Amino acid sequence: MRGYLVAIFLSAVFLYYVLHCILWGTNVYWVAPVEMKRRNKIQPCLSKPAFASLLRFHQFHPFLCAADFRKIASLYGSDKFDLPYGMRTSGQYFVKDGSISLVHLSNSIPCKKCVVVGNGGVLKNKTLGEKIDSYDVIIRMNNGPVLGHEEEVGRRTTFRLFYPESVFSDPIHNDPNTTVILTAFKPHDLRWLLELLMGDKINTNGFWKKPALNLIYKPYQIRILDPFIIRTAAYELLHFPKVFPKNQKPKHPTTGIIAITLAFYICHEVHLAGFKYNFSDLKSPLHYYGNATMSLMNKNAYHNVTAEQLFLKDIIEKNLVINLTQD
Ligand SMILES: *[C@@H]1O[C@H](CO)[C@@H](O)[C@H](O)[C@H]1NC(C)=O
Ligand SMILES: *[C@@H]1O[C@H](CO)[C@@H](O)[C@H](O)[C@H]1NC(C)=O
Ligand SMILES: *[C@@H]1O[C@H](CO)[C@@H](O)[C@H](O)[C@H]1NC(C)=O
Ligand SMILES: *[C@@H]1O[C@H](CO)[C@@H](O)[C@H](O)[C@H]1NC(C)=O
Ligand SMILES: *[C@@H]1O[C@H](CO)[C@@H](O)[C@H](O)[C@H]1NC(C)=O
Ligand SMILES: *[C@@H]1O[C@H](CO)[C@@H](O)[C@H](O)[C@H]1NC(C)=O
Repeated sequence: MRGYLVAIFLSAVFLYYVLHCILWGTNVYWVAPVEMKRRNKIQPCLSKPAFASLLRFHQFHPFLCAADFRKIASLYGSDKFDLPYGMRTSGQYFVKDGSISLVHLSNSIPCKKCVVVGNGGVLKNKTLGEKIDSYDVIIRMNNGPVLGHEEEVGRRTTFRLFYPESVFSDPIHNDPNTTVILTAFKPHDLRWLLELLMGDKINTNGFWKKPALNLIYKPYQIRILDPFIIRTAAYELLHFPKVFPKNQKPKHPTTGIIAITLAFYICHEVHLAGFKYNFSDLKSPLHYYGNATMSLMNKNAYHNVTAEQLFLKDIIEKNLVINLTQD
């Protein structure tokens, strides 16, 4: 009986995931010329991605695919880490075999200019909306709304990174043109997505705060970020230690830095907006929406905001990215 249920479960998982797979390897950037000719007539982009010098694997697929995740995980060393940095113990949520890989996002833009829109209060009272909408790819995160803030942050969203505790649950926020990317920090996050996709009851244990109990996005819109990206953010870009002292909570990158890391992989030029914390003014708004203030971020034990600020300062100074919220 048990084996039977497991078999049903695995086939359901298989169907869902195989259908959502996407291979970026055949996209037009930095790939073999043969592939480019086959896909379309667009001239290949000759410029290297903004951050090429810091990235170890250039033909990287940023999203997990049931069909080849084990292969990819061992190729990039993700089988040696647990979430959020690898898939060592979370493989049970995927099925190992499968041959279908759908290529969803055909690329019509050879040199992608991207903007990563942070949720910082610095976007308040700025009218960057039109500017932000002018980019090829617009990456947003968590529940930073577009609705009602169009003048400040624009209307379009290409990608939105989220996790179960931060995802929108009101369908008015669903833009069918957006691809949403689950950033899995823990195995519960993958389990949560499977439960939602299969219409099961949501087990709300093990979350930082109550996760969303419904999914406003259609399965075709959903991807799972390869933990390799989060690992790169933590170890290569933020230089976090691999082991923290026993009396300290391990620090992980914020979704904002993860989004920037993703942008470094898929974009040729990366601009930033809304990345700023002012810790000397704890009453200043934390986000461009809602009423949360900086004091909330100050208490955060899960991230190392100092390290992130140094990293941002560094990449801005080196002109690897451009800070749109510069005065
Ligand atoms: C934005 O403008 C409003 C009205 O002009 C003002 O009350 C508010 O303090 C401003 N907020 C910021 C963060 O500058
Ligand atoms: C989605 O994209 C289509 C085609 O580019 C466009 O016509 C439509 O307005 C977009 N929808 C939204 C909600 O942005
Ligand atoms: C941070 O807030 C303080 C107090 O409001 C202000 O004096 C300071 O200029 C702000 N710093 C930045 C970088 O905006
Ligand atoms: C923020 O505060 C204003 C005024 O105090 C209130 O009207 C509004 O409902 C609050 N918004 C949220 C999201 O809590
Ligand atoms: C945060 O990062 C900074 C800069 O890398 C480092 O000096 C500091 O020790 C880190 N703090 C914690 C609590 O990990
Ligand atoms: C972007 O520029 C603004 C204005 O100069 C500054 O306050 C903010 O800290 C900068 N952002 C980053 C991430 O350095």
